[in-house]
Amino acid sequence: MKGYLESDPVVITRGEGVRLFDAGGNSYLDGNSSLWLNIHGHNHPALNAAITGQLGRIAHSTLLGLGNVPAIELAARLTQIAPGGLSKVFYSDSGATAVEIGLKIAYAYWRRVGRPEKSGFLSFRNGYHGDTIGAMSVGGIDLFHDEFGPMLFPVERARYPNVYRFEGTEQECSQACLAELEDILERKAAGLACVVVEPTVQGAGGMVAMPEGFLGSLARLCREHDVLLLADEVATGFGRTGRMFACEHEAVCPDIMAVGKGLTGGYLPVAATLTTDRIYDAFWGEHAELKTFFHGHSFTGNQLGCAVALASLDLFESNRLVERTQLSSSRVADLLKPVAGLAHVGDVRRRGLMVGIELVEDPETGRSFPWQQAMGAQVCRRALDLGMITRPLGDVVVFMPPLATPDEDLDAMVHILHRAICEVTEQ
Ligand SMILES: Cc1ncc(COP(=O)(O)O)c(C=O)c1O
Repeated sequence: MKGYLESDPVVITRGEGVRLFDAGGNSYLDGNSSLWLNIHGHNHPALNAAITGQLGRIAHSTLLGLGNVPAIELAARLTQIAPGGLSKVFYSDSGATAVEIGLKIAYAYWRRVGRPEKSGFLSFRNGYHGDTIGAMSVGGIDLFHDEFGPMLFPVERARYPNVYRFEGTEQECSQACLAELEDILERKAAGLACVVVEPTVQGAGGMVAMPEGFLGSLARLCREHDVLLLADEVATGFGRTGRMFACEHEAVCPDIMAVGKGLTGGYLPVAATLTTDRIYDAFWGEHAELKTFFHGHSFTGNQLGCAVALASLDLFESNRLVERTQLSSSRVADLLKPVAGLAHVGDVRRRGLMVGIELVEDPETGRSFPWQQAMGAQVCRRALDLGMITRPLGDVVVFMPPLATPDEDLDAMVHILHRAICEVTEQ
């Protein structure tokens, strides 16, 4: 808060397309989609209309013991577009809760099928799944999670393949991490409920992109060892990586999938945990059998949120937004080439419109800047002065524009990034 208050706080009053406006009348390009959420731009007429239309009927009624039309319709739509086999939807209100629910479903599933010893979790070092206790337990970012260690439950951890920080080729990195994973599964699978992974990109861990083939091999290993796979698509879902869901890149059908962020086009806090008939059926029974999944939130299945999520999915279809994102991604890849050549850029990582630019003091050795210099934050501060908002992850500058960003705005955003990095790191 001290840093924020000392740095002339920006207070947003309005948004229009990919621009945000502050109380002082300044305008900024939204270079991180308002924390990786926004898809179609701000103040979108179709999304606004979906909310006001729903508001004229009802804003919210509980999903506990009652249904509601937008929640039912959205569940049907989600199961149509999700990877094969994900046929059931459990709503909540943030990415963390969607993950938390996935963990509890996995844990309870094995108890329902008479294998309560399968109660543990395996996740990846440097992963991020949200800030609630379960989500933090499977997270692995020291800065965020270490302090709370005593509050968290123990979890097995595997290495996420970070090619930039690995001495060897991409393939060697992938194989080394898979071998380590396989070894853990061979020793521990009998006590594991599920593996939790951020498919294709570790987001908050620094936009670390998985080598091709890794996700498919991970899914195969989970199947072979009879451990469920929970794909956390909170950041990668809804077109962000150039497919509707990142799992599609390697035809992976997880047992559980958590989504949030872009589900409502970034408008309202709705999240969902999807799962299969196999898992759903384990919770099916007479009242006296007590197979119920005891979990719920007050705003579960909120009508306003579900209505805007449906309108967002309509826009994906009418604007062919996933295909368009693939084109925008290629454009961004080209635009970023000169950035990759800058003196203090160690690595430019990208999957679709999910970009991380790692700043280093010495690109030859990969030596980082002293953390006290907060180089990532300095670059983002300069980008703000130049008219674009984004936030760093340590010394990784994040670039995640709304998927519907027009080409000329993409060009302007990358230009600002380039200039901010040059001016701050090369001064
Ligand atoms: C992969 C992933 N999972 C979960 C979360 C948590 O989502 P929320 O902030 O909505 O709780 C995030 C947030 O950045 C995320 O990137």
